[in-house]
Amino acid sequence: MRLIPLATPEQLGRRAARYIADRINGFAPTADRPFVLGLPTGSTPLDTYRELVRLHRAGEVSFRHVVTFNMDEYAGLPQTHPQSYHFFMHDNLFQHLDIAPENINLLNGMADDLQAECRRYEKKMTEYGPVHLFLGGVGSDGHIAFNEAASSLASRTRVMALTDSTRRANSRFFDNDPEQVPRSALTVGVANLLEAEEIMLLITGAHKARALQAAVEGPVNHLWTVSALQLHPNSLIFCDDEATLEL
Ligand code: GLP
Repeated sequence: MRLIPLATPEQLGRRAARYIADRINGFAPTADRPFVLGLPTGSTPLDTYRELVRLHRAGEVSFRHVVTFNMDEYAGLPQTHPQSYHFFMHDNLFQHLDIAPENINLLNGMADDLQAECRRYEKKMTEYGPVHLFLGGVGSDGHIAFNEAASSLASRTRVMALTDSTRRANSRFFDNDPEQVPRSALTVGVANLLEAEEIMLLITGAHKARALQAAVEGPVNHLWTVSALQLHPNSLIFCDDEATLEL
């Protein structure tokens, strides 16, 4: 595991975006093998997404040969809901890039049969796989994607009940009312993340310091699913100064 400390979230966003662009540019795509990129939502990747858009506009990276798979989606939020991850991704990233709509993959939280939707997504992702680079964030309680505390480290794409802690943390996007936060979500599993060729996490802020410590120094365990990163031969974490407080 490589740890890349940067002074501020803005610097982190610039470095992380450059890293992703270099990976895409260094890949030679073929008709049946595009660059496969896993993506997160949340406030942490926003600086990185802004910088990726800037790099794209400056002609420094193209997404024509990139296929994306998002990590997770709330159950029961329509794609037009401003807090759905569909809406977030189009608003903050996809609509500003030259990515083909058919190359964008997100779990459908409105599917009639959510289990079947998870199986469909898992199959498609595995057929494309392995994901070349999975970008992620982390919850302050150490969850990765929506793999809440006590998720199996062998877990795959599935429906997860969200913990009170996650619903409270995410209530800032729902009028500060945890009751408005969906009770469950669809998420790729820890094993899906570990199967990527490379995992790259973005961790910023003092409130993520314990999660960063668990990721780097803690024992590998299912209470801090981010610690599974230690099992991966090619993982890196971009963090800011504040997130290193517990190291
Ligand atoms: C949600 C997402 C995670 C994300 C986490 C942290 O729980 N499912 O993928 O990492 O929020 O979000 P933020 O970056 O806003 O702190």
